Parts: sequence; C-alpha cells; structure tokens
Amino acid sequence: PKVTYVAIDGSRSTIDAVAGDSVMSTAVRNGVPGIVGECGGNMSCATCHVYVDDEFAARVGPPGDLEDAMLDLGVSDRRATSRLSCQIAISEELDGLIVATPEEQP
Ligand code: FES
Repeated sequence: PKVTYVAIDGSRSTIDAVAGDSVMSTAVRNGVPGIVGECGGNMSCATCHVYVDDEFAARVGPPGDLEDAMLDLGVSDRRATSRLSCQIAISEELDGLIVATPEEQP
C-alpha cells in the first residue's frame, strides 16, 4: 500500500509501505521529513503527530483514549483529524493514505 506524506511547504513524499507497519515507522525508515518518532512508537512523545487527510479520516478512525490524552498534552495545534502516526497501522484498506505533517513536532 502507498502512503503520501505532505510537508508544511506542500511537498509530497509517496512511499511504498508494508502492510502492518505504522505510518510513523514508515516515515522514519524512509527519511520522510516532519515526523520524528522519538519514543519509537510507545505513545509517549507525540513527535509523530500528523493530520489525516479528510478523505481518509473516517477509515482511519479516531484516536484511542491514551492517544487522545497524549494529543491533548503534547500537541500545540490539535485538529479534528490529528493522530499519532505510530498508532496508525498501514493496510490495504488504507492504500493511498494521505497525511500532513504539522509545522513542528514537540
Ligand atoms: Fe512517540 Fe508516536 S512515536 S508517540
């Protein structure tokens, strides 16, 4: 499945991802700018914050309780489509997924 990351300047990186990997780990492994993933996917840093594209928001779904709390704590510009990308698993159903990275990570 493909995932596209849109940077704050509008530049796009489309990656051929592996199903089951997270949106965060895929970005880090491929050197996509804008996603740090400092805690390695343990939901304790919020440096993997992304905005899910409106078209995919329903399919990706809302954050879980812990993730929701972490977004409240750790993210300065939280929006309705904010998610921690380490908590989004790539799958065939999400093929073509588009996420935007925020201006800065905490
Ligand atoms: Fe730390 Fe996602 S990588 S919360």
